[in-house]
Amino acid sequence: MTSYKELGLVNTKDMFAKAIKGGYAIPAYNFNNMEQLQAIIQACVETKSPVILQVSKGARDYANINLLRNMARGAGEYAKELGCEIPIVLHLDHGDSFETCKECIDNGFSSVMIDGSHLPYEENIAVTKKVVEYAHERGVTVEGELGVLAGIEDDVVAEVSHYTKPEEVVDFVNRTGCDSLAISIGTSHGANKFEPSQCTRNEEGVLIPPPLRFDILEEIERQLPGFPIVLHGSSSVPMQYVNMILQYGGQLKDSVGIPEEQLRKAAKSAVCKINIDSDGRLAMTALIRKTMAEKPGEFDPRKYLGPARDELKKMYMHKNINVLGSANHA
Ligand code: G3H
Ligand code: 13P
Ligand code: ZN
Repeated sequence: MTSYKELGLVNTKDMFAKAIKGGYAIPAYNFNNMEQLQAIIQACVETKSPVILQVSKGARDYANINLLRNMARGAGEYAKELGCEIPIVLHLDHGDSFETCKECIDNGFSSVMIDGSHLPYEENIAVTKKVVEYAHERGVTVEGELGVLAGIEDDVVAEVSHYTKPEEVVDFVNRTGCDSLAISIGTSHGANKFEPSQCTRNEEGVLIPPPLRFDILEEIERQLPGFPIVLHGSSSVPMQYVNMILQYGGQLKDSVGIPEEQLRKAAKSAVCKINIDSDGRLAMTALIRKTMAEKPGEFDPRKYLGPARDELKKMYMHKNINVLGSANHA
């Protein structure tokens, strides 16, 4: 049993309260390896931003929970060494059961998501409530979800999105006691967030996605004034990385993300956590492909992971400063 407090981590409570008041969102960046974590911490220290380090079930399977926990501890010490003590949350992304959430809480996570969004409403309430009871006794905060995103939710494949029903949110939050709520207003997981048939094209032929449903978000805010809202599936799928991947032999088709201006608008509202994973994958893949193509004789992983890490850092800094607005709020 390890409490997150022993690891120098914090839960999301204060972070979210400040973010809602301040009109910005906390970056929730997924990580699976050391280079991603270094880039996140360097970027958040340089921009003086609080951060949520997200670990999915896939990340746990890939990297091992003991290693991940100690990497999060190390991240705090690394930030201090770099000159700024930023608040850090270690969060389970898309927890699929009470048992998974419990295991993470017992292993030093300071926040967990229980994703019951694919379950019938009453079952979602029951499992979320069970996680909240266990978590709150240990000072851990809990994210629930109502509504289903299009795209792939970890192991749960949702072909169509079901927008969150504003008329359900008060009942869900009151009966579960969750600390934040992930909602579905048109974001989507992955690098292919929409079918081309759902999009329009600009003069250069670039796909323009359907706009987020700010009307639903506003109604949810009216129902739950001051309550922390979370957006999943919020990568913007930057064209410079898509094009670099294609230029150096990668295969991506119909990639499309959420425009940055829409995320900026959402961050100014009750949305106080914005999840970004795919953009990190794209930036890293793009730079690795480029470096390998330009230096075919190179076989030291540091020589291609290093440039990928530097690009990731640049990208995260840009998001903190220009998209989420979390810079200077550590
Ligand atoms: O929402 C899902 C995240 O992007 C995590 O993806 O399960 O492949 O680690 P993963
Ligand atoms: P993206 O695939 O848009 O980066 O979303 C990540 C996410 O929601 C993680 O939970
Ligand atoms: Zn997600």
